[in-house]
Amino acid sequence: MMQVENTVTINSEDLQNEAKGLRFALPALGEFATGFVVRFRGKPYAYVNQCAHVSIELDWDEGEFFTSQKDYLICATHGAHYQPDTGFCVMGPCKGKRLKSIEVTEHNQQVVINIASISSK
Ligand code: FES
Repeated sequence: MMQVENTVTINSEDLQNEAKGLRFALPALGEFATGFVVRFRGKPYAYVNQCAHVSIELDWDEGEFFTSQKDYLICATHGAHYQPDTGFCVMGPCKGKRLKSIEVTEHNQQVVINIASISSK
């Protein structure tokens, strides 16, 4: 992983389907803020690592974002479930809200995250 200014670049092979996600720093949101990227059904998705319920990180163990069935992203604290491809919370205390998404593209075997693009939705 390479983080230069507003871009985080990851080799595509380091991001496997429904496997561990990768975390990166989001200095624009504060000294300790992080984002993460996962691959779901072949495509990469990146979000701010912050539950829509309480502003804490989702992963229970570094990089663990998926439920055991690998169908949702889950917040380790109170169990909110999010659709991996939309960030929409379908179950839990923040049902109906969503994770803040970050723009991510993939080409030439590289996943490129534009950390200047954090959505305010
Ligand atoms: S902090 Fe994530 S569900 Fe409560």
